[in-house]
Amino acid sequence: MAHLMASQKHEKVIAIYPGSFDPVTNGHLDLIARGALIFDTLVVAVARNLDKSPLFAVKERLQMLRAVTAGLHNVEVDEFKGLLVEYARARGARVILRGIRAVSDYEYELQMAMMNRKVEPQIETVFMLPAEAYSYLSSRLVKELARYGGLTKGLVPPLVEARLRAKFS
Ligand code: PNS
Repeated sequence: MAHLMASQKHEKVIAIYPGSFDPVTNGHLDLIARGALIFDTLVVAVARNLDKSPLFAVKERLQMLRAVTAGLHNVEVDEFKGLLVEYARARGARVILRGIRAVSDYEYELQMAMMNRKVEPQIETVFMLPAEAYSYLSSRLVKELARYGGLTKGLVPPLVEARLRAKFS
């Protein structure tokens, strides 16, 4: 009986949504909104230690993320260094949330999820699909578009649009 009661008890599920977010796009936001509906707490976590040379400093990325997720009460924005699963464990998270846009994302995501499972089998990677309208969207292409003067309206939140314009003006 005690066992039954324990399994019926709803434990709060914390999920980590990790990434570079350089910068946050409407595709990321779509996934954050979907994740916030499913999980009790969703922690959007900016990775600090990537090899990529970023356009926006971590501080700027955190600031933009905080501004655009301000209306979502169970979403928190944070940063992490080192291994994602170690950060997830430290935060008491059982889930890593990742978005998959097209088949081309799958191979990399599979490798990462399997590697993370190897290091920490207790943490489950959960994949969600963004709205179809954002299935072609990436921070990399948004930056490229902005760099050459293209309009990023509808692809990123207005705040990010303005920050991109400022970077390349
Ligand atoms: O937005 P991105 O660039 O696709 O995010 C990649 C990210 C940050 C999720 C990934 O690089 C990551 O988890 N980095 C932290 C180091 C780590 O734990 N790597 C996976 C173990 S092999």
